[in-house]
Amino acid sequence: MIRIPLILLVLSLAPLGALAAQGPDSTAAVLARGKRVFEGRGLCFSCHGKAGEGLLGPTTALAEGKWIHTQGKRENIVALIKTGIEATKSKSGTVMPPRGGSRLTDAEVEAVASYVITLAKQRKL
Ligand code: HEC
Repeated sequence: MIRIPLILLVLSLAPLGALAAQGPDSTAAVLARGKRVFEGRGLCFSCHGKAGEGLLGPTTALAEGKWIHTQGKRENIVALIKTGIEATKSKSGTVMPPRGGSRLTDAEVEAVASYVITLAKQRKL
């Protein structure tokens, strides 16, 4: 008798879980903030280009080609932005400074990571 209601409860919560999967990380406000960071004080645009086209060669293209370091996973992208890429780990030998060499807060890093993912989605268009 106890199990049936439990299953019903789990089923009724499933749609909520799907909603959470889209996440608060990709609301319009977060993406707008991420775009501002990318094109502004995060300095990302100076190496990656405003549209993610990659100004320092193919490995810096974010809007085309393949993921090299992060497999496109949000948590990996957040971690990579925080640590940067040292010369020994860089495919091209070009360094990415931690937080792009800027003084982004953790919240700004989270926002710009979400924006980077939307740039990459343009690959399929
Ligand atoms: C000084 C130049 C420079 C700046 C500024 C910079 N990057 Fe990078 N970034 C690079 C380089 C170079 C690579 C690729 C390294 C390689 O060749 O392996 C890279 C790689 C990446 C990757 C890995 C992509 C993949 O293939 O998995 C992400 C994500 C990324 N950068 C995001 C950012 C963001 C967001 C910012 C701004 C906060 C930023 N970068 C600022 C130089 C830069």
